[in-house]
Amino acid sequence: MTNETKNSVSLENITALAKRRGFIYQTSEIYGGLANSYDYGPLGTELLLKIKELWWNFFIRRRDDMLGLDSQILLHPETWVASGHVDSFTDPLVEDQLNHKRYRADLLIEEYLNKHPEEQKEIIIANLSTSELDELIGKYQIKSPDGNPLSKTQDFNILFETAIGAVTDKKSQVYLRGETAQGIFSNFKQILNSNRQKLPFGVGQIGKSFRNEITTGQFIFRTLEFEQAEIEYFFDPDTNSWEDLFRDWQNQMWDFVTKVLGIKEENLRWRRHTDKERSHYSKETYDLEYHYPFGWKELWGIAYRGDYDLRQHQEFSKKSLEYIDPQTNKKFLPHVIEPAAGINRLLLMLLCDAYQEDPSKERIVMAFKAKIAPYQLAVFPLLKNKNELVDKAKQVYEDLRQTYQVAWDDRGNIGKRYLSQDEIGTPFCLTIDFETLENDTVTIRHRDSAKQERLAISELNNYLKTALA
Ligand code: GLY
Repeated sequence: MTNETKNSVSLENITALAKRRGFIYQTSEIYGGLANSYDYGPLGTELLLKIKELWWNFFIRRRDDMLGLDSQILLHPETWVASGHVDSFTDPLVEDQLNHKRYRADLLIEEYLNKHPEEQKEIIIANLSTSELDELIGKYQIKSPDGNPLSKTQDFNILFETAIGAVTDKKSQVYLRGETAQGIFSNFKQILNSNRQKLPFGVGQIGKSFRNEITTGQFIFRTLEFEQAEIEYFFDPDTNSWEDLFRDWQNQMWDFVTKVLGIKEENLRWRRHTDKERSHYSKETYDLEYHYPFGWKELWGIAYRGDYDLRQHQEFSKKSLEYIDPQTNKKFLPHVIEPAAGINRLLLMLLCDAYQEDPSKERIVMAFKAKIAPYQLAVFPLLKNKNELVDKAKQVYEDLRQTYQVAWDDRGNIGKRYLSQDEIGTPFCLTIDFETLENDTVTIRHRDSAKQERLAISELNNYLKTALA
């Protein structure tokens, strides 16, 4: 295989493979597609489920200071007023003055600066005001991608609005949630009352969120509908140092990505948000960034939100959200640290990190960690028209399917079947041949080395247990 870093892959190659092999499809393709929207095919769905299950096991189930939650996509609309989203969940919008196509001002400037590195003097574009963005657009004479002049920048709120029932008055107006976090904050008191959990503790949730994104492109990196895995970790700032907890959570995030998902460390880095860039609620924010084919981008953010959210919800709901320390009776609003991951970005990272191509371009291998691959095994009868081989192979296939995800392939020749499994990342292929009928052994072929060895069927389970640990 090539020695180039894995993420030298282009986004076009990833997109083409994802479609060809059933990882990711364009949404509503038969109608010409829907902007910023993708569906997950059979293999993509498997990967999504695996990422979520690994995340849930690592961050919730194995810890006694973590609880799970599944709150609704539609919450009381006041939630989003209290959280600040109705006022400030905005992206900077500019319009092509001739054809009226709309773009994100900050991303057009970023694109310009990437093409003109001589201008890059530590300019951080995130969270600049509309007039600061207009100033940069003027300074660099940035035009729309079609070469036309741009309008002035305006704040565009990316919360999705909808209405409950047939009523059209304001009272029935609701929002599709812009983050799962607010369901955790608004349930804080109920979680406390029903679980008697002592601080520090965290609540984790996986679920869909929605943002009316202006930008198109970059595949599943930024989509209208996406899945978040968020944790709110509550603590008493007088007892726990937020800096220590923050560092500990950063280490957990790093370990999950490198050890559980098997991502190469050289494709990851931390980036601290500048004071200007930080969200309205945050006292400290870092992004764990991955080196995607389109550059270093946020994979997973971690923010110290102080008591901002609980304080806001307490004020707007007029219900006390204070915690009472059982030992000291001290009453206070806990502070919170929030590690917030995008599941779809984790999936895109897995695809980019796994993609490897032979210099000859004869073999594409998705080198997923063995237990993350959509199928752990494939089983083939050497020949399709020999009943005794097919029957034996079916028996092995059915046995293994009780424990593993197993693909079956009896098309074409063995070499083509190997290449086909390499392309979807299946780590082991088993071939049932004439020798199998004599001594109950199979050929096991390894994805990464393409080497083969002979193994007794009775040894398979032990072998796979170790290989897939
Ligand atoms: N809750 C943080 C985020 O949605 O990015």
